[in-house]
Amino acid sequence: MATPHNQATKGEIAKTVLMPGDPLRAKFLAETYLENVKQFNTVRNMFGYTGTYKGKEVSIMGSGMGMPSIGIYSYELFSQYDVENIIRIGSCGSFKENVHLRDIIIVQGCCTDSNFAHQYELPGTYSAISSYALLERAVNKAKEKDVVYHVGNVLASDIFYHADQGSVEKWASMGCLGVEMESYALFATAAYLNKRALTLLTVSDSLVSNEETSPEEREKTFTAMMEIALEIA
Ligand code: HPA
Repeated sequence: MATPHNQATKGEIAKTVLMPGDPLRAKFLAETYLENVKQFNTVRNMFGYTGTYKGKEVSIMGSGMGMPSIGIYSYELFSQYDVENIIRIGSCGSFKENVHLRDIIIVQGCCTDSNFAHQYELPGTYSAISSYALLERAVNKAKEKDVVYHVGNVLASDIFYHADQGSVEKWASMGCLGVEMESYALFATAAYLNKRALTLLTVSDSLVSNEETSPEEREKTFTAMMEIALEIA
């Protein structure tokens, strides 16, 4: 059994899948952190791997960028491969002065400018939230580590190069901490299929200041975020 986008057979993918956007990041993480690694997907170079972390089976697979992409892969993982938990590990732009480069955002809720939820034909606006069970475990792990973290709402946007420069202030004024491009579709898909999802983000750029980080600094924070995800998997 396979899908149009995933050649894995049932049983080759763990109950928990960590999803970075970049498939080469998935390869690096699998090779760095997992033992007994086996690659299960190469279709469209959206690499996926299963291995063990401290004896526990975990999979790591790229999601691609944007809601259409993560919408496809997460739907297939949940519905065709019996995956129970997807933890997105990504980067975001900060909307707030107190959310600095390298900080971690543990995503509680997600707003969007996409019409992804239109498909559910709801008589209103769907609020996408992460799994509280996964969120609580991530917060407890973050507390154990020497990391700055925030818990809250983010924006999943369809648009990276936004024509409306004022949109940042509008979302920030409603409490959104930052912007990425995937979590709304991931959380909505998990809710629709009665599964669990969470997003952990490292702040890679700021839309309010011109702060910059070195690749080494970004790597260090990414490592902490990755360890949180692996330990709660
Ligand atoms: N916009 C959208 N997604 C992002 C950004 C951004 O500025 N930074 C990292 N992911």
